[in-house]
Amino acid sequence: MLLAILLSKWHPNLPFLEVKSLESLGYLVEEKHDELTLIKPKKEKETKNIKKTLSLRLSLSHEISENAMVFQQKDFFSEFSGVKQKLIPFISKKTICVRVKKMQAYSKAQKDDADKKTVPELERQIGGLLSEKTDLKNPDVTVRFYLCKDKIIVGLNPVEVDKTFLKKHKPTKRAFFHPATLEPKLARTLVNLTGLVPRQTLLDPFCGAGGILLEAGCMGLNVVGIEKDENVFEGCKKNLDFYEIKNQQVFLQDATQALPKKAMVVDAVATDAPFGKSTLLFGEKQIELYKKTLLNLKKICNGSIVFSTNIDITELSESLGFKTQFVEKVYVHKSLTRRIHVLKPVSGKTISS
Ligand SMILES: C[S@@+](CC[C@H](N)C(=O)[O-])C[C@H]1O[C@@H](n2cnc3c(N)ncnc32)[C@H](O)[C@@H]1O
Repeated sequence: MLLAILLSKWHPNLPFLEVKSLESLGYLVEEKHDELTLIKPKKEKETKNIKKTLSLRLSLSHEISENAMVFQQKDFFSEFSGVKQKLIPFISKKTICVRVKKMQAYSKAQKDDADKKTVPELERQIGGLLSEKTDLKNPDVTVRFYLCKDKIIVGLNPVEVDKTFLKKHKPTKRAFFHPATLEPKLARTLVNLTGLVPRQTLLDPFCGAGGILLEAGCMGLNVVGIEKDENVFEGCKKNLDFYEIKNQQVFLQDATQALPKKAMVVDAVATDAPFGKSTLLFGEKQIELYKKTLLNLKKICNGSIVFSTNIDITELSESLGFKTQFVEKVYVHKSLTRRIHVLKPVSGKTISS
């Protein structure tokens, strides 16, 4: 069975990359049509679990439907009996509610079509063609139609991705506030780009007030943080305790120094590295700080290193023996664009150290 995930349009690539990075949960990305990604669980019986887990974990998606089916857009209405035939096993003797979502590319392509129908008109038309038993308030089955540029994707029983973390984890709601902390949406995205699954260990070597650790901890990952500023270090511990994060270790330490025993082996790293004011960098040159830290991380991490900062570190990281999986830019404001690098260590390769 395929699951259909409706991606957000917040960024052109990161929503898809977030879903792709989480294939470690036990599925494969099969197809992408406009803002819709179809995934196939490796084990059919895991489908419900994967739908639930993703709905609680994704940061940059809106909803997930099951039993997804793909139809050609051009003959969708002319050959509707074929569509109905495929849906019968799921809707016969049941009350249904039809919900339609037009993708941006579909609407653009329809711009000059004089016969174009509104969403409520389409919902009524399709509902009438499918069944006489409609219940808009409490249906047995919700049938979701995603109108893409060339295809129409049908999915059943969509669930909304849980976005309550955006409010609950807002920096101003935490026990300790720090102005340089990451917003929960991006913090959660960085964690998901590591592809870690519960009980694996994530390290943030510049953990600050703990924005990344908090998201990772809520997903059931073990978290390790390193922070050099004593006040911020205390604040980070307060924040993790405030949200009752279990399996956490935070060290007052310099990320360029030999790392503590507990952080000796980690499964992945996600970090928003310091930049800008020299106080945040403790007077260290930015590139020097990153170089020493990356060399340190290479000793303890075989998995992904998700490294966010304001500059492109591709050349530096590749000279230190890392392979770049991708770099994505995230515009923050006029004078700040973050670069999200996903790196993998290449074993035994360190050209300059
Ligand atoms: C951009 S902030 C991290 C924000 C954090 N991700 C959050 O969401 O709260 C960078 C942090 O790195 C810390 N830092 C700077 N140099 C460091 C070093 N050499 N070792 C460890 N931490 C350092 C700073 O004190 C600062 O708290």
